[in-house]
Amino acid sequence: MSETIELVLPALNIPDNVTQTAAGALKVPGARVPEKRVSLDVALAQDLIAHARVAAESAHAPHSHFHVGAAVVMADDPSGTIFSAANIENSSYGVTVCGERNALYAAASKGFRRIRYLAVSTVDSLGSPLSERSPCGVCRQAIREFTDQDVSVDEALILIDTKDPDILCEVMDIPRLLPHGFTFAG
Ligand code: THU
Repeated sequence: MSETIELVLPALNIPDNVTQTAAGALKVPGARVPEKRVSLDVALAQDLIAHARVAAESAHAPHSHFHVGAAVVMADDPSGTIFSAANIENSSYGVTVCGERNALYAAASKGFRRIRYLAVSTVDSLGSPLSERSPCGVCRQAIREFTDQDVSVDEALILIDTKDPDILCEVMDIPRLLPHGFTFAG
C-alpha cells in the first residue's frame, strides 16, 4: 500500500559577511533557500534504499574498498523504472565514477531528464556522519543538471541511507546540498 507523506525542507538562511580591508572588501557570500513543502512516497523511498543497498554489492572498488550503490526514479519517466548502479573504480584513479552518477546517467541515457528520487547507500559507512554518506560535490553538480529549478511539485529528492533502524532515510534536495552550485547562463 502506498503512503504519500508531506514534509518540509527547512529554509537555509546564511547571511553575507563583509570585512573591509585596505585592498577592498572581503565578502563571504551567504545563502538563502526558502522553506519548501514536498511530497514523498514512503514505500517507493523504502524500495529505492533497498535497491541502492543491493547495487552496492556490485561496486568495483579494489582501490578504496568503499562500496556505494544508488537508485534513481525519474519524474519524466511514466514507467517509473528504477535505475540502479554502483561505483566503478579504475587503477587510473581519476577514471573512477561514483555510484550516483552511474545510476543517474543510466536513466539519462534512456532519455529522461528530471530526477524525482535519487537514493544512495554508502554501505560501508552507514553509521558515519552525513558527509561520509551523502553524494560528493561532483555528483551534486551532476544531479543539479537533472533537477528542474522551477518545478514545485515532483521535487527532486535525495534519499540518504543511514544505519539507524528508526530512520528510513535522510531527505535532502539539491538547493540544500549544493546552495552555490554552478549555473551556466550562456
Ligand atoms: N564514491 C561514490 O560512489 N559516491 C560518492 O558520493 C562518494 C564516493 C566512491 C568513489 C570511490 O570509488 C569511492 O567511493 C571512494 O571515494
